[in-house]
Amino acid sequence: MSEKAILEIDGKKFEFPIIRGTENEVSIDIKSLRSATGGVITLDSGFKNTGSCKSAITFLNGEEGVLRYRGYAIEDLAENSNFLEVAYLIIFGNLPSKEQFVKFENDIKSESLLNEEIKNIIDGFPKVAHPMGMLSSLTSALTAFNPVTVDINSEKELYHAVVKILGKFPVLAAWAHSKNKGTPLNYSDNSLDYISNIMQMLFRIPTEKYRLNPITVEALDKLLILHEDHEQNCSTSTVRIVGSSEAGLFASISAGVSALWGRLHGGANQAVIEMLEQIEKDGGDVEKYILKAKDKNDSFRLMGFGHRVYKNFDPRARIIKSYADEVLKDLNINDPALKIAKHLEEVALKDEYFVSRKLYPNVDFYSGIIYRALGIPSEMFTVMFAIGRLPGWIAQWREMRLNHEPIGRPRQLYIGENLRKYTSINNR
Ligand code: CMC
Repeated sequence: MSEKAILEIDGKKFEFPIIRGTENEVSIDIKSLRSATGGVITLDSGFKNTGSCKSAITFLNGEEGVLRYRGYAIEDLAENSNFLEVAYLIIFGNLPSKEQFVKFENDIKSESLLNEEIKNIIDGFPKVAHPMGMLSSLTSALTAFNPVTVDINSEKELYHAVVKILGKFPVLAAWAHSKNKGTPLNYSDNSLDYISNIMQMLFRIPTEKYRLNPITVEALDKLLILHEDHEQNCSTSTVRIVGSSEAGLFASISAGVSALWGRLHGGANQAVIEMLEQIEKDGGDVEKYILKAKDKNDSFRLMGFGHRVYKNFDPRARIIKSYADEVLKDLNINDPALKIAKHLEEVALKDEYFVSRKLYPNVDFYSGIIYRALGIPSEMFTVMFAIGRLPGWIAQWREMRLNHEPIGRPRQLYIGENLRKYTSINNR
């Protein structure tokens, strides 16, 4: 027997099918709502209750703190896999065989050279430009250097677009960083694995031999695995909605970078470290900042706290917190920000304001402390998040296109003026 939901409007009943997901999540299919009711719409500001698509990529249970990519627990993947293997899993649906992985890695490496003319664009940016702004523009510029439209019915063309963006995006990110620092633009070193190559592009200078530290490479690898996908968040929804107009992969991802930049989303990692520095400079008075965060007349929010979906704990934050301890110990770093962060968390988690609103540390609360330990400057934190999230954006764009989803175009409830008669400027 099929399940249905019944909606009553002005005494008239309408039935809508109930659709369940593979984890028994329940949704009401309101596809026929407008036509059946003669124009009634749903109003859901911020899409807090709206499922925008069906997806087989990531499962997230915010009440129980569960996150899985293609059915694999995030904890299992962070412990045992590596960034590129997880990228393959997310994008193509299954863990790669050894041969598939080697081919995937080599295909990405063969796409890691940028057109030299991209340097002209970099030259045009002011030195103070934020790297996220540069990354978004440079990703968009890739469309100019690769103007051919991908035929999404061709698996080969799709695959080629995927390895191309995975090869070029970290180079663009590293070059944005070099622009800020005034250091030479490093090329990819195809003898290295994906994460080691990112490290050398960020930090190698031509006058010195660059030695990779296996601790920092492993730390970055794990951190980026935890960022790879997070279902229909703000930037991913942006990528999908841009792509739904049949805009290409690179243009859609450029829009995703811009969406990620905001401090309520990926930009929170930079905002957290700036907040911790501010608290430290201010004498380390954690209670004062908790009071500020609770004060509705104060715009201050506890950055790195709260989440739209997680109402118990963010499993990524749990892994990153324990990992921050380990990495700082291994690298022999004593960062006062970690102490302040732990103190903030301890006080907040006992405070009625945070408890009643189910506000817990999110992925961005401790990640900046690790990035800082790896020598990554705070303005690059969100760029690192973007490198991590790239496979998720690609997978969601690909799924959306392969499912032939319709163009994303929400409705609205108009609350403006009724029809008015124009009056000429002399009579106003
Ligand atoms: N500090 C103080 N109060 C908060 C915070 C916070 N960080 N987060 C939420 N609240 C309060 C909020 O004021 C509201 O209170 P009330 O019910 O009295 O009006 C209540 O908690 C519910 O918050 P909301 O803003 O309606 O919740 P939301 O789901 O719309 O927003 C959020 C989620 C993540 C934007 C928000 O919690 C926030 O601004 N957090 C700080 C920024 C941050 O850390 N963002 C990273 C999110 S996770 C990674 C990612 O997405 O990239």
